[in-house]
Amino acid sequence: MNTHLHITAWALGFILFAIAYVMYKKGNTKAGKIIHMILRLDYLLILYSGGELITPYFNGGDLLPEAIVKGVAGIWMIVIMEMLLVRLPKQKPLKALWIQFIIAVILLLVLGFVRLPMGV
Ligand code: HEM
Repeated sequence: MNTHLHITAWALGFILFAIAYVMYKKGNTKAGKIIHMILRLDYLLILYSGGELITPYFNGGDLLPEAIVKGVAGIWMIVIMEMLLVRLPKQKPLKALWIQFIIAVILLLVLGFVRLPMGV
């Protein structure tokens, strides 16, 4: 298993998230909803590719705790993006979510690229 599918999935996810966010922000709800739905399909790809990458860690080695934190942070990231996109059109406060967004991104990049062995 290589990491290309995973990188493609999460990079596409951030791009779709950014587009949907800007659309909702501009009040273009219809376009926002379409991109948002595509993003939801991409969540499945992120989860599938992440699940495939995490499987070997359960078969031995001492990096299992880090891999589990990585996986949980990945799911957390998806929840944060989803909540931001649901709350934005409702004009609810987003600051706490953006703080979590930044923490989750840093955690994911550090664990994904630095701590865990497989890179690009
Ligand atoms: C938006 C969500 C996510 C982001 C931004 C993200 C980010 C990353 C990054 C930057 C890497 C290292 C390079 C790469 O292989 O792509 C990585 C690897 C990995 N991710 Fe994710 N990820 C996310 C979701 C998930 C989920 C949901 C899981 C588990 C269910 C997961 C499990 C893993 C595992 C096991 C690796 C391999 C680490 C290694 O063996 O080196 N990720 N991820």
